[in-house]
Amino acid sequence: MSTGTRIVRTLEQLRRQVADWRAQGLRTALVPTMGALHDGHLTLVRQGLRRADRVVVTIFVNPKQFGQGEDLERYPRDEKGDARKLKKAGANLIYIPEKAMIYPEGFATTVSLAGPAKAGLEDKFRPHFFDGVTTIVAKLFIQAGCDYAMFGEKDYQQLKVVTRMAWDLDIATAVIGVETVREPDGLAMSSRNAYLSRNNRELAPLIHHCLTDAATAIADGKPAAKATSTVRRKLTNAGFKVDYLTARNAETLQRLRSPSEPIRLLAAAWLGTTRLIDNIAV
Ligand code: PAJ
Repeated sequence: MSTGTRIVRTLEQLRRQVADWRAQGLRTALVPTMGALHDGHLTLVRQGLRRADRVVVTIFVNPKQFGQGEDLERYPRDEKGDARKLKKAGANLIYIPEKAMIYPEGFATTVSLAGPAKAGLEDKFRPHFFDGVTTIVAKLFIQAGCDYAMFGEKDYQQLKVVTRMAWDLDIATAVIGVETVREPDGLAMSSRNAYLSRNNRELAPLIHHCLTDAATAIADGKPAAKATSTVRRKLTNAGFKVDYLTARNAETLQRLRSPSEPIRLLAAAWLGTTRLIDNIAV
């Protein structure tokens, strides 16, 4: 039962539409994005449609999560292409708010975080990133009031931070994680892959292959610290500048303490001027 794909730009229109659906007994899922959509994002939409009757996609390049000298200005934007892809994927509503509406003059509130947001991973290399992410995500959750929100495992620390934040603040939106969607050669899909030169694009899947190799070695009994340092060296030798490649507790993201913990391998590395992140379960 398709209802078409509508684009709205104001909070009032968003609230009215979600309230209408709620009044009809329909369940809703939110998919927050920054646009430049690829099949990873569209998979979140499709998974949302499996859980809920209506899917709301938000497109907002959130300035608060970009640090000084990061890629806010050059971040890819393609509203028309995004709308076309979302229509095809069956999204019901696209919310594209103006920056001034999200952060009006005098805006002074951020969410303060600990736990998985202070794990020495993304937070170490992008100190303001999760404050910015959770501020916009909390706003979008409150604005939309959806039953579910779909987040990719591709940004694994973000998934854990947002899950914790929603739980801690009693936000009645259930955060659902969705498996990472990859290119045929293993590279995790990302809007930032478009920055890669041809040579670096060929090299980029190595990050996934290294994580897979390390995961296999750990599963075979190799100590995690050894397995990760071997592939970290391999990436460095291939020309990556590695920010981190580490084995962590899959739930808390803290350092491993006992052999029986669930393990997640997480990595961030630069190829030229492009920063890639990826992660995998052991
Ligand atoms: P963005 O990078 O546009 O990603 C939006 C959502 O798509 C996130 O939940 C992300 O994890 C998911 N995603 C991206 N690539 C994916 C892939 N290859 N497979 C599966 N899911 C993937 O993440 C953000 O935007 C922002 O931080 C946001 C949450 C929107 C807050 O501004």
